[in-house]
Amino acid sequence: MRISVFGLGPVGLVTAVSFCKKGYPVVGIDTDSHRVEMIRSGKTPFFEPSLESNLREALDTGLLKTTSDSSVNTESDLSYITVGTPSSPDGGIDLTYIRAVASAIGKTLLGRKEYQLVLVKSTVTPGTARNVIKPILEKEARKLTSQDFGLCSNPEFLREGNAMYDAEFPDRIIIGSESQRDLDKVEAFYSEVYGANTPTVIKTTYENAELIKYANNSFLAMKVSYINMIANLCQKIKGGDVEHVAKGIGLDKRIAPLFLRAGLGWGGSCFPKDLKAISAYGISIGVRTTLVDATITVNDNQPLKAVKLVEKQIGDLKGKRIALLGLAFKPDTDDLREAVSIPIIVTLLERGAQVVGYDPAAMPNAKILLQDKIQFATSPVDCIRDADCCVIVTEWEEFKKISPTVFLETMRRPIVVDGRRIYDPSAFRQAGVIFSAIGLGES
Ligand code: UGA
Repeated sequence: MRISVFGLGPVGLVTAVSFCKKGYPVVGIDTDSHRVEMIRSGKTPFFEPSLESNLREALDTGLLKTTSDSSVNTESDLSYITVGTPSSPDGGIDLTYIRAVASAIGKTLLGRKEYQLVLVKSTVTPGTARNVIKPILEKEARKLTSQDFGLCSNPEFLREGNAMYDAEFPDRIIIGSESQRDLDKVEAFYSEVYGANTPTVIKTTYENAELIKYANNSFLAMKVSYINMIANLCQKIKGGDVEHVAKGIGLDKRIAPLFLRAGLGWGGSCFPKDLKAISAYGISIGVRTTLVDATITVNDNQPLKAVKLVEKQIGDLKGKRIALLGLAFKPDTDDLREAVSIPIIVTLLERGAQVVGYDPAAMPNAKILLQDKIQFATSPVDCIRDADCCVIVTEWEEFKKISPTVFLETMRRPIVVDGRRIYDPSAFRQAGVIFSAIGLGES
């Protein structure tokens, strides 16, 4: 199988490199020639653990080629659509990139004799493959799907920060199509790719496959908002601790422990966009997605709980130096999209605080985004030096290792607000740190 991947963002590049790792020749196509050059020189345009070393290997073996010229797709057997579907002003998805890629692929199918399969990995609302992508492909190719080429929905479930692992060990494969032959072909291809590690394959319609992705992400976000709601209850209860409650309910096999980590809320390039999109889609077909809407509301309020805890400890924020450990939306990424650090910073600044931040990976992006609005530290210790309060915003491993003594010796006042529950409250309190945390009631 020769593979084309259209769109070299986090999903596309990981997909391309993972196929090369399995021995398939891949051509990665992106309209951004600067990005194409960068990847060709062995550099990833974003931080993703182990991606860069795997990229270099893919380039060294000659299996990965990158280009801005979509006509190379004529040589491929499979083409993946992995472009972004950003939010449009009404919360729905903007299909500009999807339409452009469908049109580019369609043109390469014109005059082609062999059957090609087009797989949609981009997150799109139900009906997009059938009503948007298919007509464009058929018009440009002057051919019919199923007869002359195949079109399948094939949503991805890669997590930023774990994307290489997820690409290698998917926990399910979802394929949607109206053609049984295409469903079987894609299933056979994935059996070849994953061999003994092939997970359960669900073969269904385009629309079910498209909806599975949204249902999946909104359920996970709902789980997080749910535990954050419980955390808010715990905080008002003497001796309350959401960590104990999460553990208690997570042991129920029907609930399960993952995505029950209470904190300052979810962010990133997926959950916020996808929940808005499924809500807007629901409205467009006359269905109110009430739980999704409540999930968003809980999340919108959650980052400010950190500011409340800071104010509870130090009162008026004017002129106070507040250290933020972590800026990325989650650990192991440099991604600041919809990161909770942003509303926290905006509110602290509005209330007159001086903000200093540190993040192990997101500093370059933070400097571009925030410019001189905050100060940037060079290390966690540099960040908390002389601070009146420190807030843990992202649960990076290196922050977990900081001992209470470091806070006691470095800060102006040893006040810590643990927004991600990475520290042991009793150890910190016993050491003399003035400690408060999300989901932790008065002791
Ligand atoms: C999410 C999904 O997990 C992937 O399966 C999916 O492929 C991806 O979106 C996508 O649609 O492309 P990702 O955005 O990388 O992946 O991040 P997650 O690990 O799901 O975390 C999302 C947010 O929830 C983060 O801000 C994280 O800090 C927060 N979270 C997660 C919690 O606050 N508590 C938890 O227990 C878990």
